[in-house]
Amino acid sequence: MPSPRLEIALAADELHWPDGPVLALRPPPQQTGLPQDRTLVVHGFKPAHDAWAKSGYAVAAETPATDFAAAYIALPRAKDHAFALLACALDRVAPGGLIAIDGAKTDGVDSVARALKELDTSIESLSKAHGRLLWFRRPENVTDAVVEWGDRSTSPQGWMTAPGVFSANAVDVGSRLLVESLAPLSGRGADLGAGWGYLSAQVLSSMNAVTHLDLVEAEWAALECARANVLDPRADFHWADATCFQAPAYDFIVMNPPFHTSRQADPALGQRFVVSAARLLKRTGRLTLVANRHLPYEETLRKSFAEVGTRAEASGFKVIQAGKPRPYAGR
Ligand SMILES: C[S@@+](CC[C@H](N)C(=O)[O-])C[C@H]1O[C@@H](n2cnc3c(N)ncnc32)[C@H](O)[C@@H]1O
Repeated sequence: MPSPRLEIALAADELHWPDGPVLALRPPPQQTGLPQDRTLVVHGFKPAHDAWAKSGYAVAAETPATDFAAAYIALPRAKDHAFALLACALDRVAPGGLIAIDGAKTDGVDSVARALKELDTSIESLSKAHGRLLWFRRPENVTDAVVEWGDRSTSPQGWMTAPGVFSANAVDVGSRLLVESLAPLSGRGADLGAGWGYLSAQVLSSMNAVTHLDLVEAEWAALECARANVLDPRADFHWADATCFQAPAYDFIVMNPPFHTSRQADPALGQRFVVSAARLLKRTGRLTLVANRHLPYEETLRKSFAEVGTRAEASGFKVIQAGKPRPYAGR
């Protein structure tokens, strides 16, 4: 959701963008108050990235190693991610430049405000609409402790992950259950919402009859990790929205579909993944998915597939296998 706070602070003459380029880190589409002629929007989530590009802004998936006069951070949900973005802004904005951080209270903006006291600078703040906009001048020096804000996550052993990606600190219990209960797979397949590549790596290492696997992931940082984690030549990587991804029909699809949009639980997103899987599979193709037991996917599954069955249930998760995709299901 766009925040009203930036526009309010600008209109009240409380905050001014200094001359020069502005870096906007993960602003939601339609965020107002960012000068279009000199803002670079950095957004790794493909649908948001494409929406910004469509509205005429310069966009990148990763922050370039150049200097900016100012930065705006839309606070993400995960704390490690928030601090990584803050460290990035402190690195790219020149001393004396402006850094603004905008977040809902539920996204931990107050704990960020407390952490900012470590910086030798005065913090200004505007509270509105259950959130806060904080802004300050980038101090000349930042301590090592602040620089290390950029790397506070601990990847699961042997895997590369990044702040803010799903299961950055430990392999997901549901994904592990899916791997343990998979029937043998063969031919061409896809992993929709592949994350940092755990499912794909397991499928490729244990199933010799798999000839090709497309990893489809909307988060740039997660896909970059997957490229590092999945070195098998049968793997192909796609930075794309799985709900509208196009490909020749697959023999199988595996997935642990996303169930959140920002902080909100969003079962409709997982349901769109189910519909997309049915669309992307051959008539003889098979979907295996894992989900929290309480998520309401059964109706969409039955509408999209003629055969639906449970392969495993444990630790609050269910693994479902579906076959015979219906020709026009959900389209
Ligand atoms: C529950 S995680 C599963 C990750 C990985 N497959 C695993 O099992 O650890 C769902 C993944 O879907 C990705 N995602 C969310 N929306 C997406 C979309 N529209 N298209 C593709 N991927 C998406 C998220 O970034 C996240 O990595």
